[in-house]
Parts: sequence; structure tokens; C-alpha cells
Amino acid sequence: MMSNKAEPVLVTGAAGFIGSHVCEALLARSRRIVGVDNFDPFYDVNIKARNAAAIEMAAAKSAGSFELVRADICDAEAMNALFERARPEGVIHLAAKAGVRPSIADPVGYSRANVLGTSVLLEAAKRARVSRFVMASSSSVYGNNPRTPFAEDHDVSFPVSPYAATKRSCELIAHAHWHLTKMPTACLRFFTVFGPRQRPDLAIANFLRLVSRGDEVPMYGDGASSRDYTFVEDVVRGVLASYDRIGEHGYRIWNLGGSSPVPLAEMIATIGRIVGREPRIKPLPMQPGDVERTWADLTRSAAELDYRPRTPFEEGVRRQWDWLKAQP
Ligand SMILES: NC(=O)c1ccc[n+]([C@@H]2O[C@H](COP(=O)([O-])OP(=O)(O)OC[C@H]3O[C@@H](n4cnc5c(N)ncnc54)[C@H](O)[C@@H]3O)[C@@H](O)[C@H]2O)c1
Repeated sequence: MMSNKAEPVLVTGAAGFIGSHVCEALLARSRRIVGVDNFDPFYDVNIKARNAAAIEMAAAKSAGSFELVRADICDAEAMNALFERARPEGVIHLAAKAGVRPSIADPVGYSRANVLGTSVLLEAAKRARVSRFVMASSSSVYGNNPRTPFAEDHDVSFPVSPYAATKRSCELIAHAHWHLTKMPTACLRFFTVFGPRQRPDLAIANFLRLVSRGDEVPMYGDGASSRDYTFVEDVVRGVLASYDRIGEHGYRIWNLGGSSPVPLAEMIATIGRIVGREPRIKPLPMQPGDVERTWADLTRSAAELDYRPRTPFEEGVRRQWDWLKAQP
């Protein structure tokens, strides 16, 4: 799909983990970016400020530009006015309340930010006649799917956490919106993304800190549960490819995974090797809402996006550790 570099890309969740990497990749393509983020206090907002500062530095060295708008995506008036002013070519919608476990404590907040927020953006995009809409979904929509690896056409009617239910709801709302407007729309099912700037609540970030301090690592279940970890640079390539290609498809769901699941016990052992300290494991029961395994079938995204994850798990964890050590 043709791009017009004079028109900005509107990126929501720009100050977040994945959003900040997507913005840097767009700047490397000399794009103008309008970022939207409300600096939700779900985790330390200083981290988000540092992410935004990194994007601004990248913008200064690029032929692109970055404007950050602090706003709530649920504020329809603010979003409509912003789209009217910025006239974005397309949207990459990554803002959300993320995370499975905290959604159990705050299902209403998750519904508001994720479902209402996505609906507001789709309407603003329609009014401004944007050329395409790419949004983050999640591997969690597969729930405890017994069929592995998880393919986009598997039944996803059985989410097991409020977070997963909001992400599946967004996919359905986006489908109805596409049906009525024909605005090309991509829903990207990310599989546990890691790497520099990973959210501090996610297991690898948390365990790197705990093991390096010699603190106990909580291991939920017997260590056999597994995740298909995906290095953030691989995900970003997939996001940009879907932005480029969604015009050929109309409405499309794509898995963006790593395609080699790592059992929890092995993940903890890898962290121990990289940090250079024997992990002290505290066994705990499985957490409600957590799924046993995730594993992406990448047949569709490989064929249609040329998506191929390149970063082996251990190398990715090493890069995250190198980044973490350099943080204040
Ligand atoms: N990190 C993962 O492993 C993973 C896996 C699957 C899906 N996802 C999805 O990818 C997207 C990005 O995730 P992330 O890990 O970068 O999370 P993140 O929390 O680092 O980034 C999300 C950003 O959205 C912002 N935000 C939240 N609510 C907002 C609102 N109402 N208005 C404006 N901004 C708001 C937050 O301040 C944050 O900076 C999310 O949609 C998430 O659900 C992430």
C-alpha cells in the first residue's frame, strides 16, 4: 500500500514499551509521527518519560518528526479534534491497559481503556478518512486452546481473563467497523514480547531484577507452562509490514510470535546463566487467568507479511539484561 511521507502516522501508546520501539522504527523510515499516550500510572511513569525522550532523540537525528500528545484515547472529543488537526495517513493503535493478572482486579478499567478506547479511535479514524488502522491484540485471546500451535482461524470464543476478553472484543468491534467502512484494519496477536524497555511487570524484566539481587523468583506451577516469547525488534518488523500490507487484505488477523515456546523453568535457568547467579526458586500455585502455554503458528504472517522472527530467546534476554544494567 502506498505511503505518503508528508502525512503523519498516529501511534497510540507511543510512550510504552512496544510503542516507543515502533516510533523509532518509523523515524528510521523518515516518517512524521503523532504519538498519543496518557502516561497511565500502571507502571512507573518515569520509565514512559524516558521512552518518550529516547524517541525525541531519535527524531532529532532523523528526517522524520515526533510530536507527543498527552491524552486519553477514551476522550472522544479530544481524539476527534486531534485527528482533524493531524490528518494522519494511518493509525497504529497500541495503547491499552495490558497484562492478564491485573485485569482480574480491574475488569471495568480494562474494558474502558481497551474496548471504549478502541471504539473511540475507530470512529475518529473513520471521520478523518484515514487509509488504514493497525491495532494490538494478544495471544491471550486463544485462552486454553488445546490445538497447538495457535492459528488465526482457531476458535477464540473462550477467553480466560478479562484482559483477553477485551482484546477479543476489540477484534470483533474492528471487524464490524471494517465491514461497514472498508477501512483496512489489521489485528495483531502479539505473543509475550520482551527486550529492552519491557514492561517491569512482565516476567523476564521482573526475574532479571530478582535474580541479580539474589531474591527469590516466584515460579507459578511446576515450571512446565510455556510461552512463545517474541523479541521486540521482530514484533516491530511485523507491525510495520502489516501497516504496509493491510490495504491488500481489508480485515486481517495476524499472529506475531517467536514460534519456539520456552518452558518457565528453562526461562528462569536462562536468566540465571545470563545474570551469572543461581536463581532461588519459590514454587507457587498456578495463577488464575494464566494459560498453560502459548505457541504461534506463523504460516499466515510468514506468507502474507514475510514475517520471520530472527532473534533467538537467549540472545534477546541478553540484550534486555544489557539494557537493564544501563538503567538508572
Ligand atoms: N508486551 C506484550 O507482551 C504484549 C503482548 C500482547 C499484547 N500486547 C499489547 O500491545 C500493546 C502495547 O503493550 P506494551 O507492552 O507496550 O504496554 P505498555 O503499557 O508499555 O504500553 C501501553 C501504553 O498505552 C498507554 N495507555 C494506556 N491507557 C491509555 C489511554 N486510555 N489513553 C492513552 N494512552 C494509554 C500507557 O500509558 C502505555 O504507555 C498493548 O495493546 C498490549 O495489550 C502486549
